[in-house]
Amino acid sequence: MNIENLLKKTISSSQYRAINILSEQFDRLGIRAFIVGGTVRDILLGKAITDIDIVLEADPQDVTSEFDVKCEVEVHSISQFGTCKIILLDQIIDLAMARKEEYLSPGDLPVVEQASFEDDLARRDFSINAFAAGINSSDWCELIDFHNGLADLTSKQIRVLHSKSFEDDPTRIFRGLRYSGRLGFDLEKGTQKKMMEGLRFLSLLSGVRLTNEIRKIFSEENSDAILSLLDQYEVMTYAHESFPNGADLTKRRDLLQSVGIDPHNRGFYAFVSLIGSTERQNAIERLNLGNEFMKFGSDIGRIELLEEKVSRSELNDQLKQISETAIMVAGTYVSRKTKSNLDLFLQELNEIKLLIDGQDLIDLGVPEGPRVGDVLSKTLAHMIESGSLSKSEQLIIAKNFI
Ligand code: CTP
Repeated sequence: MNIENLLKKTISSSQYRAINILSEQFDRLGIRAFIVGGTVRDILLGKAITDIDIVLEADPQDVTSEFDVKCEVEVHSISQFGTCKIILLDQIIDLAMARKEEYLSPGDLPVVEQASFEDDLARRDFSINAFAAGINSSDWCELIDFHNGLADLTSKQIRVLHSKSFEDDPTRIFRGLRYSGRLGFDLEKGTQKKMMEGLRFLSLLSGVRLTNEIRKIFSEENSDAILSLLDQYEVMTYAHESFPNGADLTKRRDLLQSVGIDPHNRGFYAFVSLIGSTERQNAIERLNLGNEFMKFGSDIGRIELLEEKVSRSELNDQLKQISETAIMVAGTYVSRKTKSNLDLFLQELNEIKLLIDGQDLIDLGVPEGPRVGDVLSKTLAHMIESGSLSKSEQLIIAKNFI
């Protein structure tokens, strides 16, 4: 089957020209090259292509240096597996060395070695991701489907290529469910069974890899369906016993959206806020979310402990070091009384600012030294209790404390 017509429909004209330029270069250098994986899957599904993945039977770093200078290829980055991101005609293209993989222990990254493109297709996760299409002139756009992906695309199923796939790489559990939810495909029976057997290896995944998979799910258009599939297989619980389930995440994320929380991290703010306070810091470490989230976790913990009956200045003291994001997030789930305290802080107390400074007090006759700071903080505390004041009113109050 030749997919040139489909390719032309799903990629832009400059992507098409870029692939043609690469084709000429690979022909000239005598290197076999193929569009592969999800790129071919999406071409077959008629979806617009954003990422173009090309596999070569050579090391891309060596090859790009042999390109005709007229091509103006810019090598952008090189990954640990020898994949190069190049920019050609303003298009980003991933060039990867055909490789085979060996997994030394479950959950670890594989050891890779250069191999044929047949090996490269065989190492992949699912049949619908194991297509290739030639880009040399001899096999331009000829579809290669060694693993019957086309039949699975037609019958709408996700089928794993090898029995140890989920054990070797448990991220494939998230990936399989992500494709299932995204495309509305079912997991093939054998694949489903293998996936369930592989769940126990999720606890071995590093935090970075786990977070990466969860983030990809959050950014899917159909993420609610995927989160509900995660619940069906108890994936989150296998990853860590304190992780929240998908249904709660969906609800909490919607609430955070309604109060305008930054979409990039919204999913993880929801995630962290759903974890019990005693488990929270542990879970943030497990996900390797970094210091910003550590602070966020401790901030919402402090808000959860706020007394409902609290004076204005006490409220101000408790919240002044807490991030606005944490206050907004906690505001979606704390009691009504605490929520109105948070609103009071954000809308009024946090806006109260001293308009006088040390020099004003010195001009009033206060000697330079700690006394100046003392009078300023007493003036601010007075305003927190009784409301904001103009500069002249602040000076009058300050005089009372001199
Ligand atoms: N792949 C794999 N196992 C993984 C990750 C990736 O076999 N754990 C292979 C698949 O063939 C996949 C390709 O590498 O199609 C590229 O990976 P990625 O960019 O993550 O997948 P896409 O299919 O392009 O996914 P998406 O559509 O979500 O971008």
